[in-house]
Amino acid sequence: MSTRIAVYPGTFDPITYGHMDVIKRGTNLFDKVIVLVARNSTKTPLFTGEERVAMIKEIFRNNPRVSVDIFDGLLVDFVVRKKATAIIRGLRALSDFEYEFQMALTNRKMDGTIDTVFLVPDERYTYLNSTIVREIARLGGDVSDFVPPCVRKRLVTKVKPHTRR
Ligand code: COA
Repeated sequence: MSTRIAVYPGTFDPITYGHMDVIKRGTNLFDKVIVLVARNSTKTPLFTGEERVAMIKEIFRNNPRVSVDIFDGLLVDFVVRKKATAIIRGLRALSDFEYEFQMALTNRKMDGTIDTVFLVPDERYTYLNSTIVREIARLGGDVSDFVPPCVRKRLVTKVKPHTRR
């Protein structure tokens, strides 16, 4: 049987426990999950692409089913180049649906052989996103419930937290 490969794309600025939960679920379904960092998304990331990649690599260094890559181009081109058959996206709440539906159908329109698989992260992470984590870190709050220690360390160094009163 051929190796089943999926690509999990995102900005990951930074990766959170919610993303990690989706990646873990992805490895239960696919032989290999490529976490793909979008270098130039429409957002203005706090971390450089290379920093975002380094954090994800560190977290999954002992998991041979997870690899990390970075890209600038069209997602479907990368998926085809890697001989992957699926795109993984996390669905946290109904509010995610419309945007995800649009992306999945657009990607399918561009390449009908690629399917998008939606995975639901653990309910503990449904409210989470990277913006909230960056904001808490910037204001000097504790982000250890949201990101692993290696990400927390880099966040604290990166942002200059305001002193909490
Ligand atoms: N846990 C925690 N947070 C999560 C999450 C989860 N399981 N799933 C999503 N999020 C958060 C992210 O942290 C992010 O938060 P932020 O907005 O505060 O940064 C937000 O939800 C959604 O971001 P993400 O999942 O990273 O997707 P994105 O919208 O930033 O990325 C791309 C979209 C990069 C996948 C998409 O633009 C793309 O494919 N671009 C490539 C170019 C292309 O092919 N375009 C055509 C696509 S149709």
